[in-house]
Amino acid sequence: MNEPPWLPEGNFAAWSRDRLALARRGADECGDVWQLEPGVYVAATAGPCEEVLHRAHDFPKPPSPLFPPLKRAGGAPTPEERAHARAARMRGLRPQAVSARIGEIASGTVRFADQWPPSRDVEILPLVRSVLAEVGVRYLFSEDAPILLPFARQLFVAREVLVRPTRWVWPGWVPTPARRFRTRQQVAFTNALRPIVRRRRSSGRLGDDVLGQMLRPSSRYGALSEWVILDTLPGTTVATFETPSRAAGWILLCLARHPRAADRIAAEAALLPADAAATTSTHLESLQYTRALVREVLRLHPPSWLLTRRASRQTQLADYTIDAGSTVLVCPYTAHRDAREYPQPDQFRPERWLDDPCSPAKPGVFLTFGTGPHSCEGAALAMAMLTVLTAHTAHRYHLSEPPGPEPGYRVTTFEGLATPGLHLRATVRGRGQSCLR
Ligand code: HEM
Repeated sequence: MNEPPWLPEGNFAAWSRDRLALARRGADECGDVWQLEPGVYVAATAGPCEEVLHRAHDFPKPPSPLFPPLKRAGGAPTPEERAHARAARMRGLRPQAVSARIGEIASGTVRFADQWPPSRDVEILPLVRSVLAEVGVRYLFSEDAPILLPFARQLFVAREVLVRPTRWVWPGWVPTPARRFRTRQQVAFTNALRPIVRRRRSSGRLGDDVLGQMLRPSSRYGALSEWVILDTLPGTTVATFETPSRAAGWILLCLARHPRAADRIAAEAALLPADAAATTSTHLESLQYTRALVREVLRLHPPSWLLTRRASRQTQLADYTIDAGSTVLVCPYTAHRDAREYPQPDQFRPERWLDDPCSPAKPGVFLTFGTGPHSCEGAALAMAMLTVLTAHTAHRYHLSEPPGPEPGYRVTTFEGLATPGLHLRATVRGRGQSCLR
């Protein structure tokens, strides 16, 4: 038995104090895989991270405590039903489907810049979340989005309450107030969605959105049951705007801190059509530097910086023995700061993603959207939303942080890597403001 090394003075107490710092120390001092507590391992570099995420039988993803399966006589969805639902959602979320709706995504996303009141310090995350929620929910449900949007926002609130750190960790079966609130919101969302599903099915007008794709029978699996559709969509709905808003917070902060990069994006965005609805996938492809910047921010600050898996049996990982039942924490954050994969890994260098010899080529090395059978379903949608949002915002505004010695935000790692409290100021770009001149 060759067990992964222990990090000296690394334990849950140290982990709770500063999880990012301990993760980095673990990767620096112990290497690929290290041990935090008995039965809790951290996969710290790209190779083992990718291996854990791909070996879904040995390292299954535990069920999400956030949106547990709806109750039905037959129990939770079977693995076949889950696979069917994922395949159906993916038909609506794959890159070609996103490309076909880029004008709609752009005209929703540009509202962020429209709504940002210039020349004063504004708290960013609530504003960006509100705009991206509209874009995401519309992407899933098209003209039925206005009915579902208020319920989707409440699902988000329920999720926030649920992941807030508490003094006690109650066993999963205890109906804490946060869990009861979550269940009420999940049921309310489902009750609003059910008549929409029934109306679309009975009228035969299924729609071309993600819900429409889920209602179409597939040649492999046949028709998806109403119950599975209702079960799977609350989580997917929140996913369309929750993580993208966190990512947007980091991106806007980087625009404020790197004015030359922001100028370069503003110049690129000048080529976009004045009417955002006329944006096409060709326009999006032309935003090469903007996309590189988004990717660089997502590398440095992956919002889902730590993914959880459980070992289903005793197995090997990077020459170490991992016991059955142990927890494996997959850490994209440290994998992305490995100098062997990304030269000068702590530096913000969007250029590394442009088509040059330094560009990181190995796909598994960029883990912001995960990899393997549970990788992110919405990666193409997220990249489209974030690229357009970044381009339009940088084109219209010069961003800055509030003056003063203290940053106007906190970094949280508990519910994802995020910048709650982030305040920024937008000044309308004038002619003399570019650093590129
Ligand atoms: C910047 C934005 C986003 C980031 C960083 C992100 C990140 C991730 C990651 C890392 C995973 C894998 C989790 C794991 O393996 O445990 C994941 C899964 C998922 N993502 Fe995203 N995501 C983003 C946006 C979106 C969007 C826009 C959607 C829209 C539908 C979405 C839907 C999902 C779903 C449904 C899963 C679960 C897949 C499964 O378990 O099979 N995500 N995401």
